[in-house]
Amino acid sequence: MANNKFLSSIAATALLGVTLSGQVLAHGDVTPQAVDTQGLLPLGEEWVDENPYRKPNKDYELAVKVGSSAYNQNCARCHGLEAISGGIAPDLRELSSDFDGDEWYQYRVRNGAVRDGAVYMPKMADYLSQEALWAIRTYIESRREEM
Ligand code: HEC
Repeated sequence: MANNKFLSSIAATALLGVTLSGQVLAHGDVTPQAVDTQGLLPLGEEWVDENPYRKPNKDYELAVKVGSSAYNQNCARCHGLEAISGGIAPDLRELSSDFDGDEWYQYRVRNGAVRDGAVYMPKMADYLSQEALWAIRTYIESRREEM
């Protein structure tokens, strides 16, 4: 699945390069928005492999709440309000709510997306904590359920 995703992102990026790079690049500068993750299970420095807040989980509801506002402040301008892509960047609801989806999610938020020196997506993990990023992932999964 990760492979398919990868190929489809390449296609998406080729398209972006032609039509939207100006817009995307203009948004490449990140103004990180502080995310309060108090109450969520603390995860430490080392990245975990799987979404630690996926339901059933006592932190699920809080993670969706925290993730919703963190997503809308930090990801929505590229990935679309309420995780519904407007076409600039991939629709994150497409990622499966399992280990494969987590692996790809984690890869992208930690590495960002850079092509030919152009930043299509910044390394979000440089700005947001692991807790905040998994909360965002949990929110995206809750949006996937409503697709
Ligand atoms: C400046 C715009 C921008 C911002 C901000 C941004 N992204 Fe992205 N993101 C992109 C683009 C463009 C791609 C496609 C990159 C590619 O395939 O080369 C992408 C790809 C991804 C992917 C891989 C999706 C797939 O189907 O392959 C994930 C996961 C992701 N972003 C998560 C996030 C999260 C979570 C945030 C907020 C914390 C975020 N992004 C913020 C532009 C952005």
